[in-house]
Amino acid sequence: MKTCSCISLSGGQGKTTTIFFTALLLASQGKKVLAIDADPQANLTFYLNHEVQPSQPSLFEVLTGQVEPEDSIYETQYPNLFLMPADRGLFKVSDFLSSSGTGAFVLRIRLKAVADLFDYVLIDVQPSRSQLCLTAVGASQSVLIPVEANVKGVNSLVDTLDFLQEQTHLEAFTGQILGVVPFRDRWVGNTQTIEGRQNIEAMRELAPGIPVLASIRESEKFKNAIRQGKLLADLGQRDLQYPFEQIVEALNHA
Ligand SMILES: Nc1ncnc2c1ncn2[C@@H]1O[C@H](COP(=O)(O)OP(=O)(O)OP(=O)(O)O)[C@@H](O)[C@H]1O
Ligand SMILES: [Mg+2]
Repeated sequence: MKTCSCISLSGGQGKTTTIFFTALLLASQGKKVLAIDADPQANLTFYLNHEVQPSQPSLFEVLTGQVEPEDSIYETQYPNLFLMPADRGLFKVSDFLSSSGTGAFVLRIRLKAVADLFDYVLIDVQPSRSQLCLTAVGASQSVLIPVEANVKGVNSLVDTLDFLQEQTHLEAFTGQILGVVPFRDRWVGNTQTIEGRQNIEAMRELAPGIPVLASIRESEKFKNAIRQGKLLADLGQRDLQYPFEQIVEALNHA
């Protein structure tokens, strides 16, 4: 079982989009995938057409030890893709994790029970230095850092690298940074905008030794694909799917 999370400490950087398409792609290739929604905004849960009912356990009950992980894993409409969902109440888990003193290791320990069931576990993380973020990083053998191809994205990369470095010093994060994924990279026809090019160049300079992966281009087609629950290639947009194919390749070699 390979566990990877998408971390970026600012909102709207492409985390959920990256997890969604990577999970669909891996599942379409026959890999058993568990997607974990570790964000109380619950966007991934919504994208995968799930709504947590009051009587149903979700990530919250797993982290607080009220249920076994298997009891909070649900089928999705996609073969091979399963979901451990979130709802807005997930924010309350912070108190539990911080008072436990070992919050960074809780998810890693809980997931051991399902290690034989999945090839990949992909975790969508809330955009803040929170206990949830910490426990997701602690459970991950690798992380992806999606950031917008603009100044806000570059600043988000600085903060996120800083956070990961702290967690590495504390030995809470012992994995590798799989890559930075530039998000909403704007192209006009076949030409990348100067803004996109310069900001991606700034990312390379900021993170020497960390691969800057293929960018996710600015396009409404991604939102359409999410809405229809389809891969971009299935909508005739194979070229736009390339960043996720590259991520799958990187995950396979991680
Ligand atoms: N290629 C794209 N071009 C433009 N917009 C996109 C693209 N892909 C996704 N979006 C939209 O960009 C917004 C932000 O993306 P996303 O939700 O993946 O970011 P996020 O990092 O998960 O945000 P949050 O921090 O709030 O969880 C969403 O509304 C999404 O539909
Ligand atoms: Mg998100």
